[in-house]
Amino acid sequence: MTPEASADAVRQAVHGRVFVVTVDNPPVNALGAQVRSQLRAAIEAADTHPEVDAVLLLGAGRNFIGGADIREFGKPPVPPSLPEVCNYIEASAKPVVAAIHGVALGGGLEVALAAHYRIASSDAKLGLPEVTLGLLPGAGGTQRAPRLIGAKAALDLMLSGRQIGAKEARALGLIDEIATTDDALAEGLAYTQGLLAARAPARRTRDAQGLADRTASRTAIEAARTEVSKSTRHLFSPMKIVDAVQAALEMPFDDGLCHERQLFLQCLDSPQRAGLVHAFFAEREARKAPETRKAKPRAIRSVGVIGGGTMGAGIAVALLDAGLPVAMIERDDASLLRGEALVEKVYDRLIAGGRMSLQEKADILARLHGSTSYDALDKADLVIEAVFEDMAVKKAVFAELDRVCKPGAVLATNTSYLDIDAIAASISRPADVVGLHFFSPANVMKLLEVVVPAQSSADVIATAFDLAKKLRKVPVRAGVCDGFIGNRVLAIYRAAADHMMEDGASPYQIDRAVRDFGFPMGPFQVSDLAGGDIGWATRKRRAATRDPKLRYVQIADRICERGWFGQKTGRGFYLYTDGGRTGKPDPEVEAIIDAERKRAEITPRTFTDDEIMRRYMAAMINEAANVVHEGIALRPLDVDVTFVHGYGFPRHRGGPMKYADTVGLASVLADIREFAQEDPLFWKPSTLIVDLVERGATLASLNQSA
Ligand code: 3HC
Ligand code: NAI
Repeated sequence: MTPEASADAVRQAVHGRVFVVTVDNPPVNALGAQVRSQLRAAIEAADTHPEVDAVLLLGAGRNFIGGADIREFGKPPVPPSLPEVCNYIEASAKPVVAAIHGVALGGGLEVALAAHYRIASSDAKLGLPEVTLGLLPGAGGTQRAPRLIGAKAALDLMLSGRQIGAKEARALGLIDEIATTDDALAEGLAYTQGLLAARAPARRTRDAQGLADRTASRTAIEAARTEVSKSTRHLFSPMKIVDAVQAALEMPFDDGLCHERQLFLQCLDSPQRAGLVHAFFAEREARKAPETRKAKPRAIRSVGVIGGGTMGAGIAVALLDAGLPVAMIERDDASLLRGEALVEKVYDRLIAGGRMSLQEKADILARLHGSTSYDALDKADLVIEAVFEDMAVKKAVFAELDRVCKPGAVLATNTSYLDIDAIAASISRPADVVGLHFFSPANVMKLLEVVVPAQSSADVIATAFDLAKKLRKVPVRAGVCDGFIGNRVLAIYRAAADHMMEDGASPYQIDRAVRDFGFPMGPFQVSDLAGGDIGWATRKRRAATRDPKLRYVQIADRICERGWFGQKTGRGFYLYTDGGRTGKPDPEVEAIIDAERKRAEITPRTFTDDEIMRRYMAAMINEAANVVHEGIALRPLDVDVTFVHGYGFPRHRGGPMKYADTVGLASVLADIREFAQEDPLFWKPSTLIVDLVERGATLASLNQSA
């Protein structure tokens, strides 16, 4: 082995007759400008090297290559472009082998596709996730992948953005070999030497015949087109992916590449790309709460959950799925049985869907220990309380925890609204208390609000973030207030929707406008799904403290008074016939709304969908700005992550704060001031927005400075 040269981001070395090119650009070997130019230079060096017969491409560290450098998108392009580099690799006269370990994603997989042969370690992950960033594979992926594995499989990879394992990649023909160890250098060298011994030629993917069956390819493209127009109608890039594959079928390779480039640039320019890239970086930034830099997490080896209701059972499943042993505490045997049954039901559904075996379920449930005695928690490193939303009940539970838990145990509450500082202050160890606000269903929803009480110690917060990682949740740091980040803002835009309903818009129109904006459901559908009784109970609880001058719409109360709580009662804002989950508009609800308008002496007016969304978003943005201003959210990006992962906010718009910058804060402020003319108490412009508009600044500027 003679190392010949060393460069910053791409290393060159000669091993026998093989020229080894190693991309070494931590943390994920992204293909930034320096890597591209050095990669190109390395291939050139290999091609002209008199003593080597083949080239081996590797990634240093944990991965092959994580893709193009996402931070470069939206900035002026720096040559050489990635497609050029890929073409250069493919054109090499000497066989080029990519030896993949860790991930080969996006541009990383495109580099591998431009190589002539591919070997991957058994735990490697391959994928073309560009669609998740509002893009398409723009370095030949849309032309090479279909030629290699056929239009149907390539479209599936590119439209889903999913990562596949080596076994599936081998079965599809995306790779040639699976390595027995994850030593990419040793495995790659052995494989390359084998190819040389067999006199394997440079084999170019552009010549592969995966599209030879033109009828099958056309059918796959048409099927994808139909599917995209139904299921991802809000998104820009999926249809461009289909167009690019059509070009692969219809055009010579080089023309197809040019077409791909044009489509890629259109995606790159789209606001959706900006929104999706914002979401990508925002969720990574949100993980870096200040406490995670200051303190090390405490070890979590066993967990307790108090309450086996909707949330407690879901949280228990999330913990079990992360491999942790869980003690579930309920107030009596019947409730415990119900809680355990709720947990089992989740796994039974997986079994019914063929996604879990009976043995796997038994193995998981062996880690669940139910009890009606708090003493079962004496060894728990962390306890999460999910009992009724009632301060007295919560305090009683925490008093028990204070009594039985070992010193250093983290004591968490899943409360939605209650004052966690008050809970913490009620026990002898307030520094160990934290809010862990899961979302329903807790084993599915990605968001975890980590609510930080005043006296909490930094390592408790670091532990909460560490737990989120173990549970594969997306954590967001929130301060203590009524509703934290998400529910506090929700209360305001939900009220704006109620105001519009009373003023003349039907709940069905509002829901439709909200769906057309990109939310999976409108606010009234959400209420029917969650159960109208939950909001009703909260409203009744707050009735005594509500500002009597604030507008209060009673329509939901009238509906609840009839026992219409939504899907679970077959009736809410919508009518659900035959136990179905898709509601129909209900003329009786419309009659209730009419009667309420009369009672409130309101003459109904019409709303355009555009006005509905302007009001809905202005209410959301204004309260979110208050939340940032008060430090409840550290930065605007924390609000964005909260809404994308917990409230169905369309990811391609980045989140409410990113959206506000996209439409322009000045225009949002103008809307708020216009709406304030009718209801100045509800529409009070946030100081933060006023200040930013005066300075000509954006919310994004606060992300950078935080
Ligand atoms: N470009 C720039 N930075 C990247 C990056 C990329 N492609 N991928 C990850 N990073 C950064 C992250 O922002 C993070 O930075 P930070 O430490 O400052 O927060 C750091 O690398 C580590 O990332 P993760 O925390 O996500 O690390 P993991 O080990 O959990 O995951 C990964 C690694 C699977 C590679 C994951 O980061 C990932 O999915 N990355 C994006 C992959 C992707 O979408 N690639 C396609 C890019 S588009 C493209 O290639 C276009 C082409 O077709 C032309
Ligand atoms: P739930 O009513 O379904 O379950 C509460 C469970 O706690 C019941 O099974 C009850 O038997 C048990 N319980 C009550 N007192 C107890 C005690 N002293 N010791 C042990 N167990 C006791 O309620 P849900 O919906 O699960 O809510 C629980 C908590 O989670 C509440 O604080 C709620 O605000 C919060 N939350 C609820 C969400 C939701 O969508 N349902 C979302 C996020 C948070």
